Amino acid sequence: MNNPLSPISLQQDFPFLKSGVHFLDNASTSQRPQVVIDAITDYYTNYNANVHRGIYSWSEQASEAYEATREAVREFIGASSVEEIIFTSGTTHSLNLAARLLGQDLEKDDEIIVSTIEHHSNLVPWQLVAKDRQAKLVFLDTNEDEKIDPQTLRSLITKKTKILSITHTSNVTGYTLPVRELSDIAHEFNIIVVVDAAQGAPHQPINVQDLGADMLAFSGHKLCGPTGVGVLYGQRDLLNRLEPVYGGGSMIDKVTLERSTWAALPAKHEPGTPNIAGVIGLGTAIKYLQNIGLDAIHARVDELYNELWQGIQSAEGVTSFGPKDRAARTSIVSFTVAGVHAHDVASILDESQVAVRAGHHCAQPLLQKWGVPSTTRASLYFYNTSEDITALLNGIKKAQQLLT
Ligand SMILES: Cc1ncc(COP(=O)(O)O)c(C=O)c1O
Repeated sequence: MNNPLSPISLQQDFPFLKSGVHFLDNASTSQRPQVVIDAITDYYTNYNANVHRGIYSWSEQASEAYEATREAVREFIGASSVEEIIFTSGTTHSLNLAARLLGQDLEKDDEIIVSTIEHHSNLVPWQLVAKDRQAKLVFLDTNEDEKIDPQTLRSLITKKTKILSITHTSNVTGYTLPVRELSDIAHEFNIIVVVDAAQGAPHQPINVQDLGADMLAFSGHKLCGPTGVGVLYGQRDLLNRLEPVYGGGSMIDKVTLERSTWAALPAKHEPGTPNIAGVIGLGTAIKYLQNIGLDAIHARVDELYNELWQGIQSAEGVTSFGPKDRAARTSIVSFTVAGVHAHDVASILDESQVAVRAGHHCAQPLLQKWGVPSTTRASLYFYNTSEDITALLNGIKKAQQLLT
């Protein structure tokens, strides 16, 4: 393992970074270190068998590696049991699963609170479930400072409020919500709390008990793991009580033509052949991050974010969005450049090998509120360097020179 404090040596762990790319699209997906790529190749090359089924050694090896990741995830998020860890294909799948599971308890006119700054993945599944169950969505808006005030949540709660589903960290602004304060208020009223940790989990230690999360979702690919794998954490009693949403192999105990009974947790909510290679890669990614240290990762990104934040704030003709309170945010900045379309900014940056995202970032309601159709977004991870930020700022100047 490389020296965690050396970004240059860290960069060497990531084959794709050797291309010279200034990769500033980490909120979209992170890079994979060689150890993760190797773990996936090793599975397909040396013990490629299905999990939990064969009574032969390769299948046992695959099952062991698969279940070792479940334990690694349990520890990574401070869950009390591996029964609470459900593997999914990613945050989107996890949040849809959470909505379908919790939807079972909803009655007509029950209320689900979501914030107005959610990724579509933590909005659309609730819209679907609300429609099915004739429930209502209630929106927790930001204040003038563009932050969420827990007291606003209190004012929205009624006897009908059953679920609060909120993001840990905004994928558009990098603003981290006061999740613990929000969940404390929700729990006073027996409201179930779902946390979208897609942007939180890659950047800081996440603990479901400390956050007060009854359910929590994250993706492997945003924290150095493979695509197509993610996690839904669910509090054990909740997962035990709720009926499965998907049926099929592996999740049953007994099946007759008429009806079935369910396997014990976590299999009950994990039907079919899972993404075995993905799960094994996720376990390796978690170990990789833990070797560096989540606190060190957070500190490193925050240090770089100071440079990015300063650079964007002082760039002429550039407007950033979201809370002005620097301390409330990290890793991500979304901005517009006067007179230049966000996609043109991204294209000109691409010519300088700077990869950023432009668009609505799957948060159309938030951009509608700001009255902009799209922004350019730069997002950091621990392997980024000051050179990446300089390349971004120079690229923005180039876009201004060429197009204004
Ligand atoms: C806050 C947030 N939630 C949910 C998602 C969806 O994650 P995935 O596409 O991995 O399912 C993202 C992805 O960008 C995100 O940033």
